Amino acid sequence: MESTNQKQHWENIYASKNEQDFSWFQEYPKTSVAFLSLFDLSKKSNIIDIGGGDSHFVDALIELGFENIYVLDISEKSIERAKKRLGENAEKINWIVSDVTDFTSSVKFDFWHDRAAFHFLTGEDKIEKYVRVAEQYINQKGYLILGTFAENGPDKCSGLEIKQYSEASMSYRFEKSFNRIKCMQETHITPFNTPQNFLFCSFQKK
Ligand SMILES: C[S@@+](CC[C@H](N)C(=O)[O-])C[C@H]1O[C@@H](n2cnc3c(N)ncnc32)[C@H](O)[C@@H]1O
Repeated sequence: MESTNQKQHWENIYASKNEQDFSWFQEYPKTSVAFLSLFDLSKKSNIIDIGGGDSHFVDALIELGFENIYVLDISEKSIERAKKRLGENAEKINWIVSDVTDFTSSVKFDFWHDRAAFHFLTGEDKIEKYVRVAEQYINQKGYLILGTFAENGPDKCSGLEIKQYSEASMSYRFEKSFNRIKCMQETHITPFNTPQNFLFCSFQKK
């Protein structure tokens, strides 16, 4: 799908549905927070949530006392929604509307989190672009956490084709510049009570 169509897809989704209608919705992102807790990050670390949308991960980051938080999403509407939900706390966040594959930044990140955004990149060129962007903007020794549908997970999300990953296929993409730390499978239960198998892996920039 073209980038403009992708954007329009997500703008429509966020304009027309409540968070409880999203299959990916989590009241509390416990696996993401568990990965974050593995690393001894300073509260001043630069942390970015890629394809963060209206996720509650940003709420958890604020609650944990992190001071330099960035949320990037292709959808402006998703960011508007997150800002509204957070109220005054929204001012503590750096909000970025961009396709991640076009992202440029003047800061580099110590912790890069992506739950269910990377897997929407299905073409080789876009996947490669994502890897290059992550390589460019993650600090040396910085962490990358990716959550995608696993090989025994769904093959679509939000009506769009996705790419499933195994520990090996995800590691293969990032191994040039990152060391793999740990992977785990998670069964996410959607708000409609259906299971979805995710794979989460953490990497450290060489
Ligand atoms: C399935 S949702 C997951 C949202 C959030 N990460 C969570 O776990 O609740 C995918 C998110 O990725 C965003 N997204 C999709 N493609 C993107 C891209 N190329 N660049 C940036 N964001 C993208 C969507 O707008 C949407 O907010």
